[in-house]
Amino acid sequence: MRAVDLIQKKRDGGELSREEIAYLIQGYSKGEIPDYQISAWAMAVYFQGMNARETGDLTLEMAMSGDQVDLSPIAGIKVDKHSTGGVGDKTTVVLAPLVASAGVPVAKMSGRGLGHTGGTLDKLESISGFSIEMDRERFFTQVGEIGAAVIGQSGNITPADKKLYALRDVTATVESIPLIASSVMSKKIAAGADAIVLDVKTGSGAFMKTLDDSIALAQAMVDIGTHLGRNTVAVISDMDQPLGYGIGNALEIKEGIETLKGQGPADLEEVCLILGSQMLVLGGKAKDETEARAILKSHIEDGSALAKFKQIVEAQGGDVSQVESPGTLPTARAFIEVKAVTAGYVESIQAEKIGIAAMLLGAGRETKESAIDLAVGIQLSKKVGAAVVAGETIAVLHVNDAGADKVQEAEAKVLEAYLISAEPVPPQPLVFALVTKDGVTRY
Ligand code: URA
Repeated sequence: MRAVDLIQKKRDGGELSREEIAYLIQGYSKGEIPDYQISAWAMAVYFQGMNARETGDLTLEMAMSGDQVDLSPIAGIKVDKHSTGGVGDKTTVVLAPLVASAGVPVAKMSGRGLGHTGGTLDKLESISGFSIEMDRERFFTQVGEIGAAVIGQSGNITPADKKLYALRDVTATVESIPLIASSVMSKKIAAGADAIVLDVKTGSGAFMKTLDDSIALAQAMVDIGTHLGRNTVAVISDMDQPLGYGIGNALEIKEGIETLKGQGPADLEEVCLILGSQMLVLGGKAKDETEARAILKSHIEDGSALAKFKQIVEAQGGDVSQVESPGTLPTARAFIEVKAVTAGYVESIQAEKIGIAAMLLGAGRETKESAIDLAVGIQLSKKVGAAVVAGETIAVLHVNDAGADKVQEAEAKVLEAYLISAEPVPPQPLVFALVTKDGVTRY
């Protein structure tokens, strides 16, 4: 077999066999096929697509390229949740304890963020002492004893995807449905979940900007999961504005704690209840979404979701007093108000620009090596639909050591992100559709 023939076959719209996909992925992993050939192949896939069988084969090949976690020592149906990325998305911080408090074991391996704001691990490390590193035995013991653990991806999970994703990032081949679907699902399959709930973001801040594309991506991932024997559902949720009000690591932990107390932003609570309900149903702890929602709400109201979060924090070496008094979490030194230039109603808040502004302040990493400042970020004051008058504060920058230029740039980005309309803006849907193996339900 020769890589050039397979590139040509895909370029001309052909279908690659399992063996051909294995040849490309294994050859690339071993360094036998160079970046430039895999780039050309990825571009051919970008234009020609792949059918469900090819996408499934690519997923398996990448899942098998490294370690595969066996979660079977943990009793119960292990349900994983994955979000396709969004600004202000702190759902894992809320869902891990919430769902665990309802009896679904959460054995979560999370990532750090590159660009925009930090990942779940960075956010959790805002809590002093919180450790995301533990060996597999302790991980299993913690999940067995308290129902949840959130750790960094250890070992060698899907190295082929890691290499391919980095290459796609610099060759304009990220936004391909079969490539995104196989990339995400290979990691979920290798991480060992029995069932998977996907949160596919749609809108200006998402990979997929239109609802139809987001549904197609969700269907591709649900198909892969279903064919590989993992019960998989996908919720399509809005990313035409950040989720919640806080963007930045400690700010997001504070908002997550408020949400666990039932005092968080309505949009964040709602997305968590929707995703959490799906997790409870797949985990066999509720017969339907209505029952699941009632269970989750009762665990917020009676304090058991927050108590579970404290248990997780304590088990992972974190300072529980910071959960009890979130004011003691890292806090920035200066606060700069961003003021509306024109009056009107907030029509949209381009999440990507808010993410970049937060990164400029130090909340995210520009490169893998960048240090992250846990205290800084952006607290939105106005969300979509809100009325604003000229000169009113729409957001507050939480600033530490960023140079004056970066602060000014961040302020400009926030102003650019806000689209203000002269007309009132009706409430926007938060969740657009549910995709399961039985089809698509649009809300
Ligand atoms: N997230 C992933 O893990 N992979 C992609 O290709 C896109 C988003």
